[in-house]
Amino acid sequence: MIRLKVIVGSRRPNRSADLVVPWIERRVVDRGTFDVDLLDLKDWNLPLFQEHPGSIGDMNDPVYSQPIVREWNHKIREAEALLIVTPEYLHGMPGLLKNALDNVFLSFAFRNKPVAAVSYSTGIAGGSRALENLAHVALEAEMILLRNTVIIPFVDTAFDTSGSPANPMTDAAATVMLEDLEWWSRVMTDARASGQLPPGSARVRNILASGKRT
Ligand SMILES: Cc1cc2nc3c(=O)[nH]c(=O)nc-3n(C[C@H](O)[C@H](O)[C@H](O)COP(=O)(O)O)c2cc1C
Repeated sequence: MIRLKVIVGSRRPNRSADLVVPWIERRVVDRGTFDVDLLDLKDWNLPLFQEHPGSIGDMNDPVYSQPIVREWNHKIREAEALLIVTPEYLHGMPGLLKNALDNVFLSFAFRNKPVAAVSYSTGIAGGSRALENLAHVALEAEMILLRNTVIIPFVDTAFDTSGSPANPMTDAAATVMLEDLEWWSRVMTDARASGQLPPGSARVRNILASGKRT
């Protein structure tokens, strides 16, 4: 089974996330290939990001400013695959979600791992601008953000009374995304096990310290 962490990026009372998350969780579980761990940010009272060299301690197992930050980093570290469910706030991902990603600090826990994404909004764009924002962030965190995503416009009317998407495109997009996520998870779990390059920042430091330029 593939160890999958599902990150939910809204914590509002009566949030639309509660329409989207039960559906996508069911779709993931029904595949029978993922061991699902729901990391709902409403249950993770992460501090506003405040880490610094003094709060890290041992770089190989950072302590952080609060135990919950350490626990959060450990959770992400366990993942072989991730799925981020995000609404769109002001044409980007919610600050809540960005803060949770920032808090994965110096553990490189997203590095070389496949990340799928589901976005939604009450508007016509379905959170697509939040996904574009996520793509910028994913690059720096060295996530492998999948091309095939699920975008849900008009989320308040997007699900029927049984919790299924009204538009068949939504389920079809989820199937393709989850197929990709499985494939990339297998490929990258093997690739990481066969050895990873150290992060680029460390390699640059080593090159400079060696006095060589190439
Ligand atoms: C602070 C804020 C900003 C928003 N900005 C956008 C936006 O830029 N584009 C959009 O389509 N919807 C926007 N919306 C509408 C949200 O997509 C909609 O409220 C959605 O239900 C939010 O998800 P949630 O209820 O799970 O938090 C915004 C909502 C809030 C609260």
